Amino acid sequence: IPPERIRNFCIISHVDHGKSTLADRMIEMSGAIDAGARQVHQMLDSLEVERQRGITIKAQTVSLFYQDAAQGETYLLNLIDTPGHVDFSYEVSRSIAACQGALLLVDATKGVQAQTVANFYLAFEQDLGIVPVVNKVDLGHADIDGTLEQMATAFDIERDEALRISAKTGLGVDALFPAILKRIPPPAACASAPLRLLLFDAWYDDFRGVLCLVEVLDGKLERGMELVSAATGSKYTVQTIELMRPLMPAALPSLGPGHVGCVSLGMKTIHEANVGDTLSQASNPQPALPGFRKPQPMVFAGLFPLDENGFQHLSDSMSRFLLKDGSISVENTHSGTLGRGLRCGFLGMLHMEVVQQRLLEEHDCDVIVTAPTVPLKATMKDGSHRSILSAEDLEQVSGEVKELFEPLVKVTLLSPAVYTGDLIALCESREGVQVEHSYLGSERTLLRYVLPLAEIATEFHDRVKTISSGYASLDYEEAGEQPADVVPLGLKVNGKPVDALTRIVRRNKAVPLGRDMVETLQKEMSRQVYDIVLQAVIGSSVVARETIRALRKNVLAKCYGGDVTRKKKLLEKQKEGKKRRALSVGDVAIPQKALTAVLSPA
Ligand code: GTP
Repeated sequence: IPPERIRNFCIISHVDHGKSTLADRMIEMSGAIDAGARQVHQMLDSLEVERQRGITIKAQTVSLFYQDAAQGETYLLNLIDTPGHVDFSYEVSRSIAACQGALLLVDATKGVQAQTVANFYLAFEQDLGIVPVVNKVDLGHADIDGTLEQMATAFDIERDEALRISAKTGLGVDALFPAILKRIPPPAACASAPLRLLLFDAWYDDFRGVLCLVEVLDGKLERGMELVSAATGSKYTVQTIELMRPLMPAALPSLGPGHVGCVSLGMKTIHEANVGDTLSQASNPQPALPGFRKPQPMVFAGLFPLDENGFQHLSDSMSRFLLKDGSISVENTHSGTLGRGLRCGFLGMLHMEVVQQRLLEEHDCDVIVTAPTVPLKATMKDGSHRSILSAEDLEQVSGEVKELFEPLVKVTLLSPAVYTGDLIALCESREGVQVEHSYLGSERTLLRYVLPLAEIATEFHDRVKTISSGYASLDYEEAGEQPADVVPLGLKVNGKPVDALTRIVRRNKAVPLGRDMVETLQKEMSRQVYDIVLQAVIGSSVVARETIRALRKNVLAKCYGGDVTRKKKLLEKQKEGKKRRALSVGDVAIPQKALTAVLSPA
């Protein structure tokens, strides 16, 4: 099929606005699968966790043939699935780079939401043809007019440009195909130019190893060709080429300009497949497309097995996990309090939670996660640079640092107007700087703030949801860096540091946070059998202190009469008891629930 009859597009929508349902419906309507044999529901959304959490994590793509009734010509429609997940704006931007158009899908019962706005900007910046679509018009409480008004304001589109559909019942979906052909341009691929491929997604298949989704930007890809990666310089031979047909990929000998397909290049690990990489013929290497970079972990935390002897299991589970997710970074670590563990970097908080949940569900591996840290850059007094990925790193270099820099993010918040005041107060209490405050229609507010990433890494999401009774939505993207005045806030128990609880905090918030920490611990640890002094410390200075008084069991109450030997024996026993307990975590008994309470304050 020539490039003129190809359309590469994605669906931009907020979580639950019906992206998977619409993709299913389009697959069915294009005749790709016989509706009676539709045994796999929501094929584009297949991972178990994705189902449960209702989020799409890994992009998947499908190629459909559509026969244009007017001219009788067959078109190839490549529906490129973007991850609908706030932590993945870089991956979204790469999948958008493989598209020339986007369906902008908005749920008529919910209106425009943050993810739609943030992803619209990504699409807009790349000049994509936009087809606005209002979904769920079959529902009685759908507010089609209100939604159209919001779309008109947020995206500057004409109201009558938008299609009105029900992805569920199929109503209006047939009109989508002609709109796609008309409003989305074909790929500007050139058959005679040297071969260039954009790698826009990759995953690990248990049977076939690493598979890459590519778009042929120019030239023709053939089986057996030798390719070179612009990112790494590594060379690979094309082993298989497949068209992503629903249910059953179709093997092909070659892939022409403008086409999208799945290739196996014999890569050993997912780390070789860099999303955004440009591949070209080894005999005629081409430069990388602009904008490529390796995914950067934005949140680091220690993962320790809950089960004292669980390290090997955690480590094995994580290795298996790494085969599939190349964006996690992992190193061994050791904590005096929690023993052996892994220090991991994630793309964001939600990514971290998803990994934690999958470790538990797929590998039966329950972990305790230490306080998350964002990556800091340090300029040292001697002029050198270092990255600081944990509180421990910061403690080690604290005397030699000249200046620290922290990452910033631009947050998009969309909310019913009544919650605006509280959301602004929240952003300002988190050091936010407003960049936009506007209205979509009369009842919804769009807020954009630049905030330190560290300020949204803990509880920000939950606070937004609580403030707005669940009605506000949130998305964010990276936005540079700024100087950071932060310190490591540590805990000492009876004078001994508890390394697992040290975290990096803003200097102006260290004292109240220190106080919170010792108070929380005091509550959770109140049933101890000896005096315990809890201190929050910054370096050598104590910023808060609490004492837990001994709750001494009166073991002598039972001995009537003055049997000295018995008394001695009982006292010995109590001492032993103390020793055992005290050994449970390092040499101080900090119950698991106390650690958890401090690490994830409610
Ligand atoms: P993520 O994968 O989490 O981004 O969600 P999604 O956007 O793919 O949403 P999904 O297709 O899973 O739909 C969310 C819910 O809305 C499901 O329960 C669908 O059945 C329902 N839904 C989708 N489209 C329609 C529609 O047109 N009408 C009605 N009534 N329900 C719909």
